[in-house]
Amino acid sequence: MIHLFEPWHIGQLKLENRIVIPPMCQYSAENGCMTDWHRIHIGSMLTSGAGLFIIEATAVAPEGRISPYCVGLWSDDTAKAMQAVLTSVRRYSAMPVAIQLSHAGRKASTNAPWLGEDGGDRSIAPDQPSGWQTLAPSALPFFPDGTPPKAMTEHDIDRVVQDFAQAARRAEALGIDGIELHMAHGYLMHEFLSPLSNQRTDDYGGSLTNRMRLPLQVFKAVKAAVAADFPVWVRISATDWIEGGWDLAQSISLCRELKQLGCPLIHVSTGGLALEQNISAGPGYQVSFSDAIRKAVGIDTIAVGLINEPEQAESILVSQQADAIAVGRGLLHNPHWPWRAAEKLNRQISTAPQYWRGTTHPNQKNLFKK
Ligand SMILES: Cc1cc2nc3c(=O)[nH]c(=O)nc-3n(C[C@H](O)[C@H](O)[C@H](O)COP(=O)(O)O)c2cc1C
Repeated sequence: MIHLFEPWHIGQLKLENRIVIPPMCQYSAENGCMTDWHRIHIGSMLTSGAGLFIIEATAVAPEGRISPYCVGLWSDDTAKAMQAVLTSVRRYSAMPVAIQLSHAGRKASTNAPWLGEDGGDRSIAPDQPSGWQTLAPSALPFFPDGTPPKAMTEHDIDRVVQDFAQAARRAEALGIDGIELHMAHGYLMHEFLSPLSNQRTDDYGGSLTNRMRLPLQVFKAVKAAVAADFPVWVRISATDWIEGGWDLAQSISLCRELKQLGCPLIHVSTGGLALEQNISAGPGYQVSFSDAIRKAVGIDTIAVGLINEPEQAESILVSQQADAIAVGRGLLHNPHWPWRAAEKLNRQISTAPQYWRGTTHPNQKNLFKK
């Protein structure tokens, strides 16, 4: 039986508990470089007592950013900025740090949520000073009236595979503990997977095997770029929530292939591919997908999505629907959510000694490395 505060392993990586902080874009980078905001944000997350922090979607190429304000890891400058932030915040926390490597495909070149039209089209046209031409499997825009993305050539595809591998090398060199590949939420790799966004007629489109080709090539290239025991896993959208789109059965096939290639873990999200999606979100609304993949594939999973109550998180693990749970907005709302969970479930948690007097649990452990 699995519990929220039991230790866990992702390959060689040891985690103190099963609470994961999922990647969350901060739209606060400059030219792909992390800024002081990232010191504040990541610093706060690293004192939360969670078992793992995953750095926000980090673009492997400038045109792979969701917005002009997104973090990247495509150059010495972007790596140096990330190194500076991680060095300062990791001095005070032993929490493992992973990174989500991403290419936004046709959903790139958009504004920060608080700058775009409310709830509407946030895309920035390529002829605007801060916009650029997006790339995708097919020239089908995300917003009906948006500028169509460029359908990628085989040369573009090879380039993206190399960009992922290069960013992975940089991440490992920065001392980051693991890589999550973003194959979810309608970004480039999900766009290749879904028949709704991929209408190619070459080796990268049509059959499921062809649609999985680029994501699997990226996974292989990234695995080959890092040490053999360096953990590399994948976040997927297990369904498009649209008839005729990517679905659970195809997700299970993809996860089986990934497992064969040495993927130890799937972070199971859903949706984001197209505006027609029909989701009824409620507490734990994506957990059943984690459960189905875990059982059908025999692979560890992280469940995510409106898991805000400690007892709810515990029951997902006890009933073996996932191996870990991720709490996103709940941790933005209360960066010490894991303390509350430990108190409610009467378990021990690591916190910084500077904060011990603010906690009520008697058995604090020292979060400092030294
Ligand atoms: C501010 C914000 C930024 C996000 N950025 C990312 C991201 O970079 N990559 C990603 O895969 N998901 C991203 N997400 C989705 C979260 O990782 C998570 O899956 C989602 O918020 C559902 O979990 P929750 O209900 O615990 O918040 C973001 C969510 C929020 C609220």
